[in-house]
Amino acid sequence: MRNVILKDGTEVPQLGQGTWYMGESSRKYAGELEALRWGIDHGMTLIDTAEMYGEGASEELIGEAIQPYDREKLFLVSKVYPWNAGRRNIFDSCEASLERLGTDYLDLYLLHWPGSIPLAETVACMEKLKAQGKIRRWGVSNFDTYDMQELYSVKGGENCMVNQVLYHLGSRGVEYELLPWMQERGITMMAYCPLAQAGRLRRELLNSPVLKQIAEAHDCDVLQILLAFTMIRDNVISIPKASSAVHVKANREAAEIVLTAEECALLDQAFPAPTHKVRLDMQ
Ligand SMILES: NC(=O)c1ccc[n+]([C@@H]2O[C@H](COP(=O)([O-])OP(=O)(O)OC[C@H]3O[C@@H](n4cnc5c(N)ncnc54)[C@H](OP(=O)(O)O)[C@@H]3O)[C@@H](O)[C@H]2O)c1
Repeated sequence: MRNVILKDGTEVPQLGQGTWYMGESSRKYAGELEALRWGIDHGMTLIDTAEMYGEGASEELIGEAIQPYDREKLFLVSKVYPWNAGRRNIFDSCEASLERLGTDYLDLYLLHWPGSIPLAETVACMEKLKAQGKIRRWGVSNFDTYDMQELYSVKGGENCMVNQVLYHLGSRGVEYELLPWMQERGITMMAYCPLAQAGRLRRELLNSPVLKQIAEAHDCDVLQILLAFTMIRDNVISIPKASSAVHVKANREAAEIVLTAEECALLDQAFPAPTHKVRLDMQ
């Protein structure tokens, strides 16, 4: 699997593990634990969560999953609710996430989406958390170009490492403006919903003759091609969520798929990127 190099030189695996809705059902718990560990054992050591996910249940599941592993070999990402992202609550929020994860630092802490607390205050708090050693770096999520520009206008805003946004073959709006803007500044994109939620966000993906043809050529399924598509660029990290080891294995295999220039052209034709600015898609 390829690594992505963050602005501070840190190398992280291009394929990570999402965890939204995981840890919430006792019936699924053992399978989810196994899925996360299978992923870690096979190089998917970047794990994405948030205080929002199951109101801490996802972080608790991850906390248990990572117990046998060397913490330094993992890259843990969590997110703070916008209304907690100020000096009144962020320090407690971060501490609670650390406790649930059973660790004493986060590799990356994200503002989950833009809110009403001034960005200058959030950035100052993120920098303080960094100085305290509670987080190694910080970033944002669901920030469109104008949000990023505002972020860059506040003191320390340029220390943002990552913007996590919705990105899949059926939703390519970020390619027009946001992604180039971030690329110019060395900010890594983290693609969420890379599988379009197994096709649920855009039904025609699963039935696309082009996707089926490319999948056949690679002896894999359409979802694996969807995932491979999100990893074409070397500064995009992809974080599919899978709650079984079987699904994680299929996703891990997708990280080895190399799409040819002809295949990329076919995908562009069938699911073109917009040729004008469109509002950031969100889930
Ligand atoms: N920052 C944000 O606002 C934001 C928003 C949304 C998501 N996220 C993050 O991004 C992660 C990924 O997004 P997502 O979970 O919404 O959607 P996704 O990863 O595009 O799709 C997840 C769905 O795909 C299924 N799946 C996974 N691998 C599969 C495979 N190999 N074959 C068949 N089905 C497969 C999963 O089923 P099973 O669970 O049954 O395996 C699940 O139903 C989230 O978990 C979360 O960490 C962030």
